[in-house]
Amino acid sequence: MSEHEHGDMSEHGDMSKHGDAIENDATDGHGDAPDWVRDAETNGAREGLRGGLVREYQGKVWDEPLIMQMGEEGRRGVTFPAPDEAVTDTVDSAEAYVPDDARRTERPDLPEVSKPWVLRHYTHLSQETLGFTNISPWGTCTMKYASKVGEELDQQEISPLHPHQDEETLQGVLEIVHQLDQYLQELTGMDKFSFQGASGTQSAFVFTNMLREYLKDRGEFEQRDEIITTLYTHACNPAAANVAGFDVVTLEPGPNGYPETEALEEAVSDRTAGLMMVNPNDLGIYNPNIDEWIDIVHDAGGLCFYDQANFNSTMGRSRARDLGFDASQYMLHKTFGNPKGGLGPATGAFGCREELTQYLPSPVVTHDGETYHLDTDRPNTVGNVREFWGNVPLMLKAYMWIHAMGPDGIREAVDLSLLGNNYLEKLLEDVPGLEKTVQEMTQRRMEMTRYSWGELSEDTGVSTVDIRRRLTDYGIDAYWMSHEPLTYPEPFTPEPGEMHSKENIETYAEALRQVALEAYNDPERVKSAPHNQSISRVDEGRIDDPDQWALTWRAYKRKFGTAELNVDD
Ligand SMILES: Cc1ncc(COP(=O)(O)O)c(C=O)c1O
Repeated sequence: MSEHEHGDMSEHGDMSKHGDAIENDATDGHGDAPDWVRDAETNGAREGLRGGLVREYQGKVWDEPLIMQMGEEGRRGVTFPAPDEAVTDTVDSAEAYVPDDARRTERPDLPEVSKPWVLRHYTHLSQETLGFTNISPWGTCTMKYASKVGEELDQQEISPLHPHQDEETLQGVLEIVHQLDQYLQELTGMDKFSFQGASGTQSAFVFTNMLREYLKDRGEFEQRDEIITTLYTHACNPAAANVAGFDVVTLEPGPNGYPETEALEEAVSDRTAGLMMVNPNDLGIYNPNIDEWIDIVHDAGGLCFYDQANFNSTMGRSRARDLGFDASQYMLHKTFGNPKGGLGPATGAFGCREELTQYLPSPVVTHDGETYHLDTDRPNTVGNVREFWGNVPLMLKAYMWIHAMGPDGIREAVDLSLLGNNYLEKLLEDVPGLEKTVQEMTQRRMEMTRYSWGELSEDTGVSTVDIRRRLTDYGIDAYWMSHEPLTYPEPFTPEPGEMHSKENIETYAEALRQVALEAYNDPERVKSAPHNQSISRVDEGRIDDPDQWALTWRAYKRKFGTAELNVDD
């Protein structure tokens, strides 16, 4: 406990930059809640009652034109020397190889800019993004540090390769993919992996397609047309079931946040094709009856698929196959150290047991003891879910992550994730207006917890969207709210993962506490946030109106009839 804690909490330092000094009476109406916030004038930061240090923050603002509006005729980023005469004499000029009907008649409308201009321009833009570089405990996404050395190796070793190169010249990268497959087999107990799915959602779709083929081969496809799932399983599972032609049976949660086993027993029948579920579920609650559930579905003749996007809660501690699952999927873009955010490049690694491997997307990487191969001779494959063998840079970085962590590191990451989340829960316990969902459940949450700002919203009119925006004024990334369905009002789902220090978690909790207090004290300030970011609130009505936005420069000129950008637009 710091010396400030017993001090006079009625005085506040200069918060005029934020213009949001929080008075002691902010907690009026909250019983005997203490005065929450007082200032520690260390380095301009404000130290909260529970130790979290909240720093001053101001986003950069550049009066930056679009790249299309920059440049001057004749400026160049790179100039290439003319080819040697000896070369053109031998193979002719490059132009000679462009067919007549593929030739441009006019020069492309590109800005003529030098390298330093380009560098400065994109640096400025990057400074103006909200980014994902600060404290980002995004629930169900396990935001992690993505190693720069991975990026470097990707650029040097993977980018120059082409998937249509002769297999002999790809032995190194095939070995990495094969080894990653082996590591995941070790971690999950599955017999073979495909990395072709470009997301968790695509991997769920791989499963439903494979299930369809499996049932057809058994002559049961017409009969088994139902897939069972749970309400707090990510929506891509029922969606994938539906797209593959199955009916979806959704089990509602019981008092512990997951469905009662009796509900599953009632749901299974000779129509059951399979079970698709997330565990721990989207609320961060683990269903401890999972192996019993698998037996019930197997006894009814169905297959079980485990969406392990939340693997950060159990990796190295339990294995999908040991629990009895027939197939499972893992996010190389979340759990395995690749960036997730902005819907960027992703890979849902899909694993299954031996009998199902014949249906895996094509190709898969095999090893005959000496040489690695791309096996495309797969008559029972469900086909391709995307081009080539998937996103190889992500596979490289996942492989590196597993190597860097090692078995002990992986287990430790789980321990830290659970500890971090439970510590954050403790810090958020008495934040005004914030409630943990399924409060009556006593079992501890796993790596994340879903909360609701419903009470705060009713009291103040401030929404969860307002709060996440105001949080960015503290230089902290806006948080993840919730997957569908939004059964809890004004949801909020943080997940610290293994990467946030104790101090980060404390800062995060303190910033949330301050925003909550401000919502009671000065709701308009929160509703009109962000104030310290490079842009303020955009008019969402205009974003939804296709007449008012333009995704390309050509569309901009067509719609607005000018190459002058109106800053107000
Ligand atoms: C549990 C779970 N499953 C599946 C998905 C879908 O993954 P993706 O966004 O890669 O399609 C998510 C995404 O957040 C998830 O949390």
